[in-house]
Amino acid sequence: MTANSRAFDQWIRGNFCKINSELETIYWAQEDKANVENVGEELKQQLQHEGEELIHPLLAEGNTDNGFDNAFDLLGNVGLYMAACRRHEITEPSRERTSPLTEASALAMHIGASIGVTPRFATAHLTTHNKAVNGTYKRFTDLDAEEIFIDYNTKGILAYKRAADALIKIQPLGISHPIAADLLKVAKQALIDVIDSNKQLFNKLDTDAFFYQVRPYYKPYRVGKEVYRGANAGDFAGINVLDLQLGLCSANEPSYSQMLVDKFLFMMPEDQLILRDCMRRTSIMDDFLAASNCHTQSWYQENLSLFLDVCKLHGATAIQHHEQLVKKYIAQAATTMGQQHMSKVTASGPPLHVLIDSLEKLKDRRAATKRGDIRTRFDDINTLKATLS
Ligand code: HEM
Repeated sequence: MTANSRAFDQWIRGNFCKINSELETIYWAQEDKANVENVGEELKQQLQHEGEELIHPLLAEGNTDNGFDNAFDLLGNVGLYMAACRRHEITEPSRERTSPLTEASALAMHIGASIGVTPRFATAHLTTHNKAVNGTYKRFTDLDAEEIFIDYNTKGILAYKRAADALIKIQPLGISHPIAADLLKVAKQALIDVIDSNKQLFNKLDTDAFFYQVRPYYKPYRVGKEVYRGANAGDFAGINVLDLQLGLCSANEPSYSQMLVDKFLFMMPEDQLILRDCMRRTSIMDDFLAASNCHTQSWYQENLSLFLDVCKLHGATAIQHHEQLVKKYIAQAATTMGQQHMSKVTASGPPLHVLIDSLEKLKDRRAATKRGDIRTRFDDINTLKATLS
């Protein structure tokens, strides 16, 4: 890390976090907590100015040969700064044609394009690739709600990744391999861990604090002339590896493939490779359907039963995400907010009902729920269940 990058990192971990936290306290004290206009103006200017001062030498220095990790980390820091400017409406994409943060944009675009990721902060910057210094990792604010949110996002993502790592190892062994059962058991336990972690998140996270003080940092913002959608906890390959390897979703289904295409650059390059590889594979479900003539074999009975448990658990995590997290923290919370702010609620940008509808379809595919309007594996799961003795 260069001296300029280190100075910027120290600012992000120090004064940046302090200014955001102070602004959050000011917004929170208002009757309309969602309002950010004409309040805390001096703090906002301080934030913008201090960030610009530190970014200027970094842009001049250029992203040359400091390695992927340092480049990715620096992109995260620039991204946190730009996301905070957007949260405080120092920038506002619908107001502008190009980001007024010219140097920050140029630095983010230079780094993003050179390492093959989107030029904004992504989920990995705050979760799986967020280095703690003396016990504290990077955050926008020092608020408890943000810490709880990031802790349990990290836990959930890592648990999904454990499940995906296990499943992806099955294909070269084949579904009749005796060790496939071990891998399916690892996947089961990991998905139980996701459910457990989400449950704790649901119990601990305060709805209003999340909605008014954490979520706004995940809004879309402009880098250069393009608007980039907000980060969300799904921006890693593991969740789709599970969908595709289990066979619950398929990469040639239009809305699902659209989602994959849209998220590629929001993932770490190593995740992009995993997902690409996985999109070319057959699914474990199809392998079992093709092997139904072996249903009297003990391997078939044991491994299919475990496979169906994994499918059920994957569906259960999706139902939990939708029925608990999305409903409580986005849909219900939005009903208490003034109509003038409604267009700014979601991280990806579409109106709330459109977002909820597409998340609902995804949940039903993952849970193999019977639906007339979209293809799910409801019938195939029942066909497989019928072969269990
Ligand atoms: C307060 C907690 C959470 C809320 C309110 C929430 C809400 C949302 C919303 C609204 C989206 C749609 C993207 C968008 O806004 O544009 C989304 C996507 C996603 N979230 Fe969460 N989420 C939460 C926590 C988590 C956690 C802990 C996980 C587990 C790792 C997770 C996994 C995902 C995934 C995988 C996606 C991408 C869509 C998908 O593939 O299902 N979320 N989330």
